[in-house]
Amino acid sequence: MKEVAMMETVETIDVDYMELDDIIEKEFGLNKENLIMILQTIQRRYNYLPKPALAYLATKIGVPMSQIYGVATFYSTFSLEPRGRNIISICLGTACHVRGGARVNEKLEELLTITDGQTTEDKRFTLESVRCIGCCSLGPVLKINEDMHGRISSDEVKKVLDQYE
Ligand code: FES
Repeated sequence: MKEVAMMETVETIDVDYMELDDIIEKEFGLNKENLIMILQTIQRRYNYLPKPALAYLATKIGVPMSQIYGVATFYSTFSLEPRGRNIISICLGTACHVRGGARVNEKLEELLTITDGQTTEDKRFTLESVRCIGCCSLGPVLKINEDMHGRISSDEVKKVLDQYE
């Protein structure tokens, strides 16, 4: 009989449980109806949803982990994997594509040595492709955190990245 080795990933992130209590109890009143908003707040704090924080949340508000995972995986804005300090959204929608978005994306991948959905080893950047950011006339468009960089050429990518620690 074939044996299958199960490896459990151990998360080493330090979760501040007192801070979590503040979020879950004070901000959202231990109310399971506020699950999505609580998850949004946790993600803003850690840039992703750490499993220990989700397990703690499940116990505190009395919601099964399966339900929390269900919500966390349903919405693309949530991430269960650690992400970089800076989130790069490169638009690969049609309007940006015809104006050179693919070349900008290639430059990003070359400089960061990561591809779509990956995070640099130093956790400085996470690269994510999107289909339209809603400002097509500025294409090709690159968004880093909340900053829009429009009409960007592949030659300008390094200068833009250098602005982010
Ligand atoms: S296609 Fe890129 S912003 Fe719309």
